Amino acid sequence: MSRRLDQLLANLGYCSRREARAWIDDGRVEVAGRVADDPGEKTAPGLVRVDGEPLDRPDGLLLLLHKPTGLVCSHDGREGPSVYGLLPPRWQRRNPPVTTIGRLDKDTSGLLLLTDRSELVHRLTSPKHKVPKIYRATLDADLPPGLGELFAGGTLVLRGETEPCAPADLRVLGPREAELTLTEGRYHQVRRMFASQGCEVLTLHRVRFGPLELGALAPGAWRELPLDTFG
Ligand code: URA
Repeated sequence: MSRRLDQLLANLGYCSRREARAWIDDGRVEVAGRVADDPGEKTAPGLVRVDGEPLDRPDGLLLLLHKPTGLVCSHDGREGPSVYGLLPPRWQRRNPPVTTIGRLDKDTSGLLLLTDRSELVHRLTSPKHKVPKIYRATLDADLPPGLGELFAGGTLVLRGETEPCAPADLRVLGPREAELTLTEGRYHQVRRMFASQGCEVLTLHRVRFGPLELGALAPGAWRELPLDTFG
């Protein structure tokens, strides 16, 4: 799809539209092998070079991040340091913005996906698609008997809600440690499910999202995924 040159550069986070005019006047921008002179020229992103380099990820981004604890999944700076600060500055300035696919709490670590493709956000967060997400939790008390059956039963109604939670799979790892597989993503869902049965979650880490795992990725690090990872 062809777009105005100045808009293209601004949307991909290179510079403002006003600055794009200066970049073009300085001869830094080429279209189809010739130096561009018109910020309003309509062009396909694949034909553009800036400082001799092709445009950065013009079709979009999909990232897998190992979220450390202590960062929020919010664009609102008033909520504190965010996961977006881990990304290269140019990606932080893209429009549409790079956003998280669902959220992890500030105190939760683990696998977090980010993208600037809104259709991916909708597809992967919609409960209709039932993408399984696995969380590992440590608890302040022993797991009560019958918890696996309760979570699997699809009857647990959380405080303040009317719809029961979808069936969730509990895998007990120890007296105070378990993995829980959810196919939906309600607010603080894992913490609230355990709290409803008298267990406070002490640590929470997402180990898996659909077919994806963190592998050897260190906390705070990310890797790029192909845009067609989910088909
Ligand atoms: N459930 C929670 O309680 N917190 C998270 O961060 C994710 C799922």
